[in-house]
Amino acid sequence: MSTTESGEESGVIRSVSRAGRSFPPPPAFAQKARLRDPAEYERLYRRSVDDPNGFWGDMAKSELAWTKPWTTVLSGEVPWVRWFDGGELNLSANCLDRHLATRGSKPAIIWEGEPGEERILTYAQLHAEVCQFAAVLKNLGVARGERVAIYMPMIPEAAVAMLACARIGAPHTVVFGGFSAEALRDRINDCEAKVCITSDGSYRRGKVIPLKANVDQALAHTPSVHSCVVVRRTGNEVTMKAGRDKWWHDVMEGQPTSTPAESLPAEHPLFILYTSGTTGKPKGIVHSTGGYLLGAHLTTKYIFDINDDDLYWCTADIGWVTGHSYVLYGPLSNGATTLMYEGAPDFPDKDRFWSIIARRKVTTFYTAPTAIRAFVRWGNEFPEKHDLSSLRLLGSVGEPINPEAWMWYHELVGRGRCPIVDTWWQTETGSIMLSPLPGITASKPGSCSIPFFGVVPEVVKRDGTKCGANEGGFLILRKPWPSMLRGIHGDPERYVKQYWSEIKGVYFTGDGSRCDEDNYFWVMGRVDDVLNVAGHRLGTAEIESALVSCPGVAEAAVVGPPHALKGQGICCFVTLKMGVVGNDAFKKQLSDHVVKEIGALARPDDIRFTDALPKTRSGKIMRRLLKEIATSGEAKGDTTTLEDLGVLSRLSAVREDEE
Ligand code: PRX
Repeated sequence: MSTTESGEESGVIRSVSRAGRSFPPPPAFAQKARLRDPAEYERLYRRSVDDPNGFWGDMAKSELAWTKPWTTVLSGEVPWVRWFDGGELNLSANCLDRHLATRGSKPAIIWEGEPGEERILTYAQLHAEVCQFAAVLKNLGVARGERVAIYMPMIPEAAVAMLACARIGAPHTVVFGGFSAEALRDRINDCEAKVCITSDGSYRRGKVIPLKANVDQALAHTPSVHSCVVVRRTGNEVTMKAGRDKWWHDVMEGQPTSTPAESLPAEHPLFILYTSGTTGKPKGIVHSTGGYLLGAHLTTKYIFDINDDDLYWCTADIGWVTGHSYVLYGPLSNGATTLMYEGAPDFPDKDRFWSIIARRKVTTFYTAPTAIRAFVRWGNEFPEKHDLSSLRLLGSVGEPINPEAWMWYHELVGRGRCPIVDTWWQTETGSIMLSPLPGITASKPGSCSIPFFGVVPEVVKRDGTKCGANEGGFLILRKPWPSMLRGIHGDPERYVKQYWSEIKGVYFTGDGSRCDEDNYFWVMGRVDDVLNVAGHRLGTAEIESALVSCPGVAEAAVVGPPHALKGQGICCFVTLKMGVVGNDAFKKQLSDHVVKEIGALARPDDIRFTDALPKTRSGKIMRRLLKEIATSGEAKGDTTTLEDLGVLSRLSAVREDEE
């Protein structure tokens, strides 16, 4: 298992832990924090696990607005549990309507376009636009429960579209704008979306990315989609298919600004978000309305310590779960102001993020280690030339943050004044599961520290028994929590097999971890065939199927060696059919093919042709050995189950030839 194999990472972590570096909450922060007394956390946490029904029932009642009270807090048995059965609510009403009386003129979204434009939507304005677009969706015939696909850049209309779907009970599936037409097509077909919402294009480093052209390609093979709504963003020329395609500004015109929010059962599906697993087919993770919102709301409140005067900025794209929970739903449910930035961090220069923070006085900044590593590489002068004194809290998510990057973030961005919350969670968990509480927890760089309310994590061996302090094992969650996934769209067996069968009755995260002598958790990375490339999950099988679908390829195996910026790189070992020549031109062709099938985020860093792949006698590819070869040039690990020993020396030779 790779918790013991991922040597470099655990090595770094151990050495830091030995040094005992620990950062208590800065006193100026702690004095004002919502939670500042460790005994208070202890009391709340104990109640959340000893009396979950009482704890979650009280929280749901005091924190969310319900249209109908529930009868039971938690019902059913894992993996098929239900939260707040009988209760009804509407997510968009919780994010908008309930704030109108007190925060109608407060900015809900402050948006900055990549070219520099600004749009500020107050709660009242956002509410009006959401109502209008909800009416548009109804006019297009979208009924409660029918899916809507959203393939958009980071523009306010994306938020409006998501909230409008939530308002009428149409589960949305947001597809990251960096995914290819093929990836979009497959996701739309899997969930049989009726409507697709997009824009003519999007800006990235000053260039226009033609999103609508991708949509056109995808929609040629998606029989379920009858309508497509297009926002005019970049003004590039697009083809509008008569009868199917409509401009956003046309359909919005004259729509009522008071479409009622539907009263929806707590378990009504809010969204389906596709994420990578160990097979080639992405999984449509289904989230509920009530439990999901409670998780997103409470974690935002306590982990980001959100207050009415905060300007909160999470840099994630709405195409990822972080964009759902922490750009939009968590902050808006709390009545906060959320900042949305459309473009790249290095446009027009490498200080764009710091310039935004300084100009707009951002107080809370949540980003990913891969971005932090890029900032480190770009140089200290970029953050140094800006006044970042408005910041009071920093966050990190997506992959383990290496202690060096943590220290840089702490010193160069936080200027030693800001706590850092290293938040561990997954698309499946819906909201943050492990994180420091910024007014209480002393942070150890590289550790996502302690469980949030109701979360019962443990590091266990394959047989389910608990590991000792600092012993590497599988991270599991012992108890169900409100924002947990409710299944995989259309594939109940896969849901049970993937998450609830490895170790009976507990949620299997797929991550390797250890828990130290202070009960701090250190997540070390995936233990399955899932890569974490620049904070994005990619299944090795997805990339392999893309490679094998290219004519001339016989077999492919993909591994993720460590990569200085992206965390993991993508290294592909490819065997070709007899007579096919493996040259640089073919490598380029393969690489382009992967991008076409999945998107630019999956572009291989390295493609190596080989006459055979190392396999066990039963024919399973030994990716562990390939990872060693991709990392160090040779495989030193256990090769006793390898069928053909010669293949290793031939593979190592491939690398030497190439260098
Ligand atoms: O391996 C863990 C890693 O990202 C995976 C979840 O990826 P995804 O579903 O795309 O969601 C990313 C945003 C929540 C996890 O299984 N991961 C996420 N956050 C951390 C992390 N690994 C270590 N430390 C973290 N803070």
